[in-house]
Amino acid sequence: MAVRIAPSLLAADFTRLGDEVRAVAAAGADWLHLDVMDGHFVPNISFGPAVIKALRPVASLPFDVHLMIAPVDAYLEAFAAAGADHIALHPEAGPHLHRSLQAIAALGCKPGVVLNPATPIESVLTVLDLVDLVCVMTVNPGFGGQAFLPGQMAKLAALRRAIDVSGRAIALQVDGGITAATAPLAIAAGADVLVAGTAVFAKPDYAAAIAALRPVASADLGR
Ligand code: DX5
Ligand code: ZN
Repeated sequence: MAVRIAPSLLAADFTRLGDEVRAVAAAGADWLHLDVMDGHFVPNISFGPAVIKALRPVASLPFDVHLMIAPVDAYLEAFAAAGADHIALHPEAGPHLHRSLQAIAALGCKPGVVLNPATPIESVLTVLDLVDLVCVMTVNPGFGGQAFLPGQMAKLAALRRAIDVSGRAIALQVDGGITAATAPLAIAAGADVLVAGTAVFAKPDYAAAIAALRPVASADLGR
């Protein structure tokens, strides 16, 4: 499967979000990554379901919602109603991860689990039958523009193996510090969806920025 690029709206110009979504969609983005932060689970506040709902009619690409809020369960319905296609949460964001993932699926969305740098892969292995997306954070969540943590590549590779063994079509996403220099490391370790905020929205030409993150044909290991 080809590598997909998911620009993170966190790095966009917040005075013109609709134009920014249209622009990255036209520039070849595969998914739109939406970082929701509550100032409690992570030390930053971003936007919530009202903003996602307002942006939903602007583009047809999948809305990939990354929830960094706790407790998360009471808000799942609002994000589904706002138009999320994927809803991903952290195991630390509620008492019953399995139940939260079931709730997301029951709302008609694709459930995902996001692992912080210190969170072991076992947190998701026990629920792999329920997820459509696993995301490995390569920064501590909360802010864009942080440095990529290469120490997470062993975790990514272990998840690649577990997903392949499962035989399920689970997307393996990497989030944080992705640039044209770090993307090849993540792809070599097995990632097939790259989230990129600064590396897309801080660049003048979004199409060129997205293209620069994609593997060259010989490096795309047939995924
Ligand atoms: C961090 C977010 C990321 C962030 C990535 O908490 O989950 O999605 O927007 O930003 P960059 O690509 O700039 O590291
Ligand atoms: Zn994110």
